[in-house]
Amino acid sequence: MSQLHVIRLNNDVLIPVVGLGVYKMSASQETLGAIEHALRIGYRHIDTARIYNNEEIVGKAISSFFIPREQIFITTKVWNSDQGYNQTIKAFNKSLEKLNLKYIDLYLIHWPVQGKRKETWQALETLYEEGKVRAIGVSNYLLPHLEELMGYCKIPPAVNQLELHPYIYGSRIDTINFCRQNKIIPIAYSPLTKGQRLKDPALLKIASKYKKSTAQILLRWAVQHSFVVIPKSSVQSRIAENFQIFDFQISDQDMEALDGFNEGLATGWDPTDTL
Ligand SMILES: NC(=O)c1ccc[n+]([C@@H]2O[C@H](COP(=O)([O-])OP(=O)(O)OC[C@H]3O[C@@H](n4cnc5c(N)ncnc54)[C@H](OP(=O)(O)O)[C@@H]3O)[C@@H](O)[C@H]2O)c1
Repeated sequence: MSQLHVIRLNNDVLIPVVGLGVYKMSASQETLGAIEHALRIGYRHIDTARIYNNEEIVGKAISSFFIPREQIFITTKVWNSDQGYNQTIKAFNKSLEKLNLKYIDLYLIHWPVQGKRKETWQALETLYEEGKVRAIGVSNYLLPHLEELMGYCKIPPAVNQLELHPYIYGSRIDTINFCRQNKIIPIAYSPLTKGQRLKDPALLKIASKYKKSTAQILLRWAVQHSFVVIPKSSVQSRIAENFQIFDFQISDQDMEALDGFNEGLATGWDPTDTL
């Protein structure tokens, strides 16, 4: 894997900074084409999940493309209904089969389900110890979930994947600070606000200054915060646009301005409900 644009996880595994998110991408020829296009132009990281129902197509895209397996980083996640020790192991094996892979790079607990979190984490530790997954982590964990996990884990999480963009950043700062203090890399999901703020005049003003799209500003903002980003697009031109964020730098002043855009915007489920 190229040493450019990767972040080193707490177990020395390298994760590419930009990945293609494939939520809401159906198991179709179009999705296959989109993933193949992403791989062709340099993406080496795909973010899927059991619940997205497209692991098979992700596996197909990887195997149809001539890139050595070790150069591609694949993330998948255990869904809520599969949580618990035995169920998680079973769900992992199913994901492996659907993806047609021998190992997964990153396996995540998709959601902090009450009462099941500990056993589910222990299953992830087993999978890690058996070498079936190169890194393990969580998703949608807020500060109290992380503190709880750090109290019982043998292997600390390598990442926490959570909704992150300037419009929610201020509301997640305590979780992000805890991640940084504990060497947990934040992965920014819905980094484009699912498209909801791409026409925000304040964001458009910053984008025009750098002659970049608002999507590129949001992604660059995340990267400058040392977050991994996983924008989703099914459109070839946008898949390319979302990858072209390494040829400019947002100034400290504009980073601060973007940090201040917070309005507590959770475009998906809000994990505060599971505290
Ligand atoms: N762990 C979790 O619980 C969780 C939750 C949500 C998401 N995720 C992960 O994060 C990934 C990304 O999040 P997301 O899919 O919610 O939202 P997102 O990446 O913030 O936004 C995707 C939306 O933006 C559009 N878009 C993409 N690039 C664009 C561009 N350059 N210009 C204009 N519009 C653009 C896409 O439309 P087109 O496809 O038409 O381009 C789509 O409607 C998911 O695919 C998934 O892998 C994880």
